[in-house]
Amino acid sequence: MKITDKDILGTDSLSALNELVSKCERCSLFKTKTKDVPGVGSETARVMFIGEAPGKDEDLQGEPFVGRAGQLLTELIESLGWQRKDVYIANVLKHRPPNNRDPKPEEIEACWPYLKRQIQLIDPKLIVFLGRHAMNRFFPTLQISKCHGNAFRKELHFEEPDSRLRGNDKGGGGNDPRTISRYGAGKGGRKQVFLALYHPAVALYNGSMKETLQTDFNKIPKILAKIDEEKLNNNGNQPKQQKLI
Ligand code: URA
Repeated sequence: MKITDKDILGTDSLSALNELVSKCERCSLFKTKTKDVPGVGSETARVMFIGEAPGKDEDLQGEPFVGRAGQLLTELIESLGWQRKDVYIANVLKHRPPNNRDPKPEEIEACWPYLKRQIQLIDPKLIVFLGRHAMNRFFPTLQISKCHGNAFRKELHFEEPDSRLRGNDKGGGGNDPRTISRYGAGKGGRKQVFLALYHPAVALYNGSMKETLQTDFNKIPKILAKIDEEKLNNNGNQPKQQKLI
């Protein structure tokens, strides 16, 4: 089925969006998928985790992060006293690349509006990147070895249906009515708080990496508390990358 960006950005719920994912033929991955893996969790989640792409277990079960790396992610979430259902977990791609090969640029481009719409619908306080691949889809120049564990605030631009989310301060007043209610009157998006973590798969076989991941993960409640206290708000005259914690 031919699904347009407009169809995706016009969905009014995650279930409507998931329905489109199930019919999606915007790239060729639908031909080799077993199940759709749009995402899992709460539509009102305060924290949204974003990984790269479903692997074999995820493709078989239709849920992101359910394999070994996913078990570690679940342990980390539970170590904060939360459950998976309290957060939202998604990937840049909603269908598995065969043999876990790297996603192709055209696949990422085709899938991008789904992730944008998920972010709009969930409106998370904090977006957590699981690994450098997910982070670099948003911010190609950031290095995870330098920024992991440090929350930062950057602008998200949703106003151009065909453009990627961009981590720069360009972009001007969009006038797409779907963006206006949540993102301010078309004035170049809003500031979003992000945290980049090492991918749980990397930590599986590396004890010190696992320790770093746990240490970084433990900062999440503190970052949320800071966001709630609105200590982080300012009037937009901030550097492009602002360290928060
Ligand atoms: N790795 C990812 O990036 N996503 C998954 O869903 C599973 C493993």
